[in-house]
Amino acid sequence: MCGIVGYVGNKEALPILIKGLKRLEYRGYDSAGIALINGGLNVYKNKGKVADLEAILSEKDTSGDVGIAHTRWATHGEPTAINAHPHYSESKDIAIIHNGIIENYSSLKEELINRGYKFNSDTDTEVLVYLIEDIQKNEGVKLFEATRIALNQVIGAYAIVLISSKEPDLLVAARKGSPLVIGIGNNDYYIASDASPIIDYTRNVVYLKEEEVALVRRNRELQIKTIKNKVKTPYIQKLEISLSTIEKGGFEHFMLKEIYEQPRSIRDSFRGRLNLEKGIVSLGGIIDYEQKLINAKRILIVACGTSWHAGLVGEYLFEDLARIPVEVEYASEFRYRNPVITEDDIVIAISQSGETADTLAAINLAKSKGATILGICNVVGSSIARATHAGVYTHAGPEIGVASTKAFTAQVTVLTLMALAIAQKKGSISQSRFQNLIYELDAVPEKVEQTLQESQQIVEIAEKLKDVRNFLYLGRGYNFPIALEGALKLKEISYIHAEGYPAAEMKHGPIALIDELMPVVFIATNKGTYEKVISNIMEVKARKGQIIAIVTEGDVAVKKLAKYIIEIPECDELLVPLLAIIPLQKLSYHIAAMRGCNVDQPRNLAKSVTVE
Ligand code: M6R
Repeated sequence: MCGIVGYVGNKEALPILIKGLKRLEYRGYDSAGIALINGGLNVYKNKGKVADLEAILSEKDTSGDVGIAHTRWATHGEPTAINAHPHYSESKDIAIIHNGIIENYSSLKEELINRGYKFNSDTDTEVLVYLIEDIQKNEGVKLFEATRIALNQVIGAYAIVLISSKEPDLLVAARKGSPLVIGIGNNDYYIASDASPIIDYTRNVVYLKEEEVALVRRNRELQIKTIKNKVKTPYIQKLEISLSTIEKGGFEHFMLKEIYEQPRSIRDSFRGRLNLEKGIVSLGGIIDYEQKLINAKRILIVACGTSWHAGLVGEYLFEDLARIPVEVEYASEFRYRNPVITEDDIVIAISQSGETADTLAAINLAKSKGATILGICNVVGSSIARATHAGVYTHAGPEIGVASTKAFTAQVTVLTLMALAIAQKKGSISQSRFQNLIYELDAVPEKVEQTLQESQQIVEIAEKLKDVRNFLYLGRGYNFPIALEGALKLKEISYIHAEGYPAAEMKHGPIALIDELMPVVFIATNKGTYEKVISNIMEVKARKGQIIAIVTEGDVAVKKLAKYIIEIPECDELLVPLLAIIPLQKLSYHIAAMRGCNVDQPRNLAKSVTVE
């Protein structure tokens, strides 16, 4: 989720690149950089925003009519100037910008190190540009061909643009799993990760397809090949949409865009960590603490809001799979109640932003008592990521909507990976169960995709219920945290009062609220406590509550009882939260949008809560 811009033509490149980066800053904003050919190939980059980069450039000679630029959202390595893009090749003749994750970068890096190469950064991107230059040297080919050959060795996702001082009239671009658009001007070309930096200059664009490489030359026709060397005819499309629609990927709001990004963000969270062939889960970030986790007598999870709900799912996962007792704490309560913490404890802090003041304070308290602190953060290099002893990043990409959606499913994915890794090493689950679960996890993005297709039904439910004043969400087992998260999503963006409860707990109080005006959302998937949940549904039905049920595809029993049904695909009970939350996010979204609420920036809320 970084931003890419490139230009080759007859105009000054710098203003086009800077304006483009500013348009793309919503995709990532921890560092930015630029490469221009003027005299030689010059790279300028800096930690911070595009404006900081601009300030540095104001003192340099930045003339030139070919260049590339990048605004970064860190995935490998801290957000520092060294890790910022562009990255030079070893000779400094080539520079690259990259979005995505090269999964096999460590094995490629090892091979290159064995051949005598030395690297400057921690990034996967630098490995790729070194590989391309190595191929150029050894095979005597030009940049376009070397890039094509190199990409056959790459596993992972990429959108890349390369520039070379040896071939100063061209750029080379390629994509797989990460978008890239080429704008066709008057003898010049604009390249970007979405059309927002291009729209001011031309409406004629070519969207590169999977595994295509483009040769983009000043005053020449665009050439495209697949990485397997098949020539393709560029398909030129006319851009018909507005700037703000492009930034939101064609969606009405960032929240909806982020809901729809989840197949990608979940996959990015396990990319390079889940190896089906070898039958292993490897989490490089916590490798040094694995033994400690295996021997742990207790895990404490501290977090707030949605991240706390992810922590609750984590509790079920760690207890089920790794047989380690877990306590999930509101960070804000933890710090004020003199908790018992020992040096044997492992504390897992979960935070999307990595800046939540209460979570940070809970970490500092636990640290002062000698506990080991592991982090699960989305923002690389954030305060929480830095305060922990080690951690695993979620790789969900920037989340702009205040209501957390894709960060939640990424957190649950990482917790699943952690619990699986420990369970396998500890031997607390059988190899066949482990094997089965990693295949099931690998299939989740596709099932999320399928779940996302269910829209009309949800819009209709939203239409019917948008004016009610209260909602109840009920679930048991793994679906209890989903009930809490579903309720939080609705209240924070639609301002309808909503409560999440364990389904069986309803009869100890909330049942008094139920009448014909009360919508009750049941997460009633067909595993574990299914029969029990059916009894709870009947209790609500007997009191005329309006039942909305999330069920497994093909369900018969609940369908007979509920007024509204939303189906999700069959999957292992442990992974149901990743699917069941999707329709609840969409239901909240549609209700809020129909009520005319400011979905992306709900009243009184901030994206990162840096005060107590
Ligand atoms: O950045 P964090 O994950 O630490 O934030 C914690 C909560 O503030 C956050 O999850 C909040 O509850 C969201 N608005 C929920 O959508």
